[in-house]
Amino acid sequence: MDIAAVNVLSYEDFVDVFGNVVEKCPLIPAAVWSCRPFVSVKALEAAINEFIDALPESGKEGILRCHPDLAGRDLKSGTLTRESLEEQAEAGMDALSSLEAARMARLNEEYKKRFGFPFVICARMNEKAAILQQLSERCQNERIVERTRGIEETPRKCNHEAGKLGVWKCEIRS
Ligand code: GUN
Repeated sequence: MDIAAVNVLSYEDFVDVFGNVVEKCPLIPAAVWSCRPFVSVKALEAAINEFIDALPESGKEGILRCHPDLAGRDLKSGTLTRESLEEQAEAGMDALSSLEAARMARLNEEYKKRFGFPFVICARMNEKAAILQQLSERCQNERIVERTRGIEETPRKCNHEAGKLGVWKCEIRS
């Protein structure tokens, strides 16, 4: 599939391919479909980012809240989306020692209690020790800093069909 093929997808097919580009937020590709035709994959990515940037703060927080905890309940019960499982496995979240798992659970709860949304980090760009360290450090930040940071770190994921397009795996925007 190339960008010309993307541009002729019905919205149903477009949402099938890009539905989980942002974890559990199919509204994003459903909205961005209206921006066709895209001149390139970069342009599609830019349209997704522009849509997210234009959301009110409550919408951005909503995106963060759609993310499961890292190494959390959904990982343990096998109910993660395929994309989230891939991200979490790449960062070693499925292979924590019991000590690491307990620390992660405690810090995840502390973070959610303080900010009202889960800790989001581009997991595939970090290893488990760095994730635990960042989680601990970021618990000290101000809420507005974390809302911005969480959105910057929100992975843009693709299913395998989109992957053939060479679509981004994960990009931290500054
Ligand atoms: N970073 C990459 N994937 C995920 C995820 O599924 N949940 C959270 N909280 N952060 C992530």
